[in-house]
Amino acid sequence: MDNFVYHNPTELIFGRGQLEKLKEKAAQLGSTVLLVYGGGSIKRNGLYDKVIALLQAAGCTIHELPGVEPNPRLSTVKKGIELCRRERVDWILAVGGGSVIDASKAIAVGVPYEGDVWDFYTRKAQPQAALPLGTVLTLAATGSEMNRGSVVTNWETKEKFGAGTTFPTFSILDPENTFSVPRDQTVYGICDMLSHVFEQYFTHTQEIPLQTRFAESIMKTVIEYAERVLANPEDYDARATILYCGTMALNGTLPVGVETDWATHSIEHAVSAVYDIPHGGGLAIIFPKWMRYVYRENVERFKRFAVEVWGVDPSGKTDDEVALEGIAATEAFFARIGAPTRLADYQIGDEHLELMAEKATPFGPIGRFKKLTSDDVAAILRMCL
Ligand code: NZQ
Ligand code: ZN
Repeated sequence: MDNFVYHNPTELIFGRGQLEKLKEKAAQLGSTVLLVYGGGSIKRNGLYDKVIALLQAAGCTIHELPGVEPNPRLSTVKKGIELCRRERVDWILAVGGGSVIDASKAIAVGVPYEGDVWDFYTRKAQPQAALPLGTVLTLAATGSEMNRGSVVTNWETKEKFGAGTTFPTFSILDPENTFSVPRDQTVYGICDMLSHVFEQYFTHTQEIPLQTRFAESIMKTVIEYAERVLANPEDYDARATILYCGTMALNGTLPVGVETDWATHSIEHAVSAVYDIPHGGGLAIIFPKWMRYVYRENVERFKRFAVEVWGVDPSGKTDDEVALEGIAATEAFFARIGAPTRLADYQIGDEHLELMAEKATPFGPIGRFKKLTSDDVAAILRMCL
């Protein structure tokens, strides 16, 4: 196990009826708030009205930034920064999925920064200060509610990059707020949270039994509850379990003391940057192919994955056979829940394959399980066609 420091300052407020706590939290963070949300789902499911009422009850003056896109755009972030500066906003409240939260994080660190907020995403600068940020999460997927990551797309340059920005001060997670998530987005969320675990599970670091078992229990729980939540989107306990798994998959619990990978996320971000496809859908396509490309780097780890997560019986089989059965089970699971399995499902051919491979490796080779050059990425993407 490697050395580590673990610190997560986000207050997680989880469960039925917990939205009520927004009033008390709002009163603590300041009187002028920017409410950030997406394309209107919160207006259709009634959450918007409840949030407004609670903010008003806390005595807040409310400014709004609606219309944050899935795969949020830098142009929208810049609009939010302007608005905060003009209206002297004290804090930001993000109500939505990962895109709304990520855009809000970018605004939060962009306001006190004199340069271009994109500098944080191109690694030219690191955020030193941020406006406080609260979130009301409506979609189980990214873990953004309890981490400092933010992923933003610069549509002009066709670049989608992640940056370390700021942790939410608090995040309110009521599983009932995820009841209205449509089937396809529920599936993408499941693929995303599983992928987060994969990125942190496939490692060469030895003697990490607790991290390994934490990861396996998240994977097994997601797999077990996925079909239940898809069969009944208003099953509270299933939604709650998936929601908590999404948070735990990417809140810093799993990577402590572990060398993690993250190449597949860089590849997916490059595909999304060019084609604007849903993040979880892209991951469902790319991850199993990445597994096939790299598994020989540590067959033991893939063998363990097959046996512990998928229940593959190893008796009488070679290590390679067991590992490949685990990868096939992963593919079969994604297909069973209705995730896309090939880039062709998004009408993506090989036209921009080299370009995407370049965009996935802007700062050099990616990944640590196996270092991937742009040629490796192109080979993986070719397997996804
Ligand atoms: O925009 P609205 O109208 O709200 O609709 C959204 C959007 O169309 C809808 N939705 C959300 N909650 C809903 C709902 N519809 C009905 N009922 C609800 N309760 O779902 C659609 C997708 O929302 P989005 O926020 O884009 O999804 P997600 O949470 O999957 O976020 C994806 C973004 O997060 C980034 C991805 O790259 C992508 O840009 N990621 C962020 C990470 C992080 N910050 O740690 C890590 C991830 O790996 C990921 O890269
Ligand atoms: Zn992800």
